[in-house]
Amino acid sequence: MQPFRSDLLFDLSKSAYIDSGYFTIAAEKIIEVGCTGLNVGRGSVWLFSEDQRNLYCSAFYENGVCKQFEEARHIAAADFPGLFETVLANRMIAAHDVLANPITAEFHALYAAPVGIASILILPVHLDGKVMGLIGCEQKNTPRYWDEEDQDFMNALAELATRALGAERRQRAEDALKLARTNIDAQVSERTHSLRSALAQLQAAQKQLIQTEKMASLGALVAGVAHEINTPIGISVTAASHLKVSTKKIKNAMESGALKRVEFEEYIGIAMESADILLRNLERAANLVQSFKRVAVNHSDESISSFDLYEALADLVLSVSPECRRYGIVCTLDCERGITIKSYQGALDQVVTNLIMNALRHAFDVSRGSVLIRATVTAEQVDLKIIDDGAGIKAELLPRIFDPFVTTKRGEGGSGLGLHIVFNLVNYRLKGRIEVSSIEGKGAEFRCLFPARLEQEAQSQP
Ligand SMILES: Nc1ncnc2c1ncn2[C@@H]1O[C@H](COP(=O)(O)OP(=O)(O)OP(=O)(O)O)[C@@H](O)[C@H]1O
Ligand SMILES: [Mg+2]
Repeated sequence: MQPFRSDLLFDLSKSAYIDSGYFTIAAEKIIEVGCTGLNVGRGSVWLFSEDQRNLYCSAFYENGVCKQFEEARHIAAADFPGLFETVLANRMIAAHDVLANPITAEFHALYAAPVGIASILILPVHLDGKVMGLIGCEQKNTPRYWDEEDQDFMNALAELATRALGAERRQRAEDALKLARTNIDAQVSERTHSLRSALAQLQAAQKQLIQTEKMASLGALVAGVAHEINTPIGISVTAASHLKVSTKKIKNAMESGALKRVEFEEYIGIAMESADILLRNLERAANLVQSFKRVAVNHSDESISSFDLYEALADLVLSVSPECRRYGIVCTLDCERGITIKSYQGALDQVVTNLIMNALRHAFDVSRGSVLIRATVTAEQVDLKIIDDGAGIKAELLPRIFDPFVTTKRGEGGSGLGLHIVFNLVNYRLKGRIEVSSIEGKGAEFRCLFPARLEQEAQSQP
């Protein structure tokens, strides 16, 4: 029984083929339904080339199956000018008799006659107002009159073909978008890769720079030590040779029996003074060597221990209290009790002592002032501040304050190694960092931030 055309159209319209995004698949179904609905043996769907000078076969149906169109894969405008002109003008061709119709007569010999086509019904397929192709059904052998119903049915199929073309266009756009996205993803991962390797190169360069910097500062340190030690040693040599010359003189005088009491007393004075100079300067040289040794903090064999931070700091304050009293300075501790940290206690002691002693020696001209040691501990960090309300540090000195041999007390007992040692201890021993801030005339604040729980031995070289 011949199915109702409306049923055929309805089923096709809601099938997945039309909106599949693949026009060829949809076209095969459309022409199959067309031939079934019109009850004809042949039908096909064609699309124009971009320049509209050729038509290419998208689907070909014959005797119940879709197959490759055998006669030709495409037909040219040059061979079928009437067909191209009519379809491109968006007009239907209802050729009841191929030979009698002037448009179809032109392809009778080439196309219709060889397979015995008697009647052809052709409808244009368009998209967005432009004719894109055609759909045609062919009746073999006996001519057929294409009535209004036939034409409406084909028109409905042409509309479905339009829908299928739209779906394919959307699909292509989506594919292009997907491809673009994939390309972007690929580009992003390529960029990420090159950024990573650039970062690795930078880190390597940074390491190299740090190493070079370390070597340079070590070189400067050695040169500085040599220079610093030169002065006391030079003075000692002068004092010793002066003593030697005087001793020789006194010896000669004694041997010749001409030694006068006044000469001897003068010599005693020189000997005492020389011994004094020698002692002071050799002590100074020895101290410098000591400080120099302390700069290389990593050579210390101290190990990590757990200790109560408040108790450690309170002990320190107690130990510097005679000095504080001597300078007339009040030293206060502000730290929560009962917090245990795990770190290098010896290193921490030295850091705090150096900072307090600096405050006492450099901050106060008058015997009045205060030093505050404030420590707070979070789960991970110790935040330790040594704050004084003294003279402060000159702005131009601040950027160099942790460099070795930077001192404003040269010749008055300052070597300028104290803060350099503090810097090394905080950075390399306590694995933290140190900051300084100061406004001249308003005091100075040294802030050390370091881990509350150190796990392994510090390995890096200062
Ligand atoms: N709390 C402070 N207030 C004012 N100036 C300070 C303070 N702490 C340090 N300074 C300045 O920083 C300089 C460098 O300090 P550093 O401890 O390195 O050397 P120093 O104390 O002069 O000598 P050393 O500690 O080697 O005996 C000091 O000479 C001083 O000018
Ligand atoms: Mg100092």
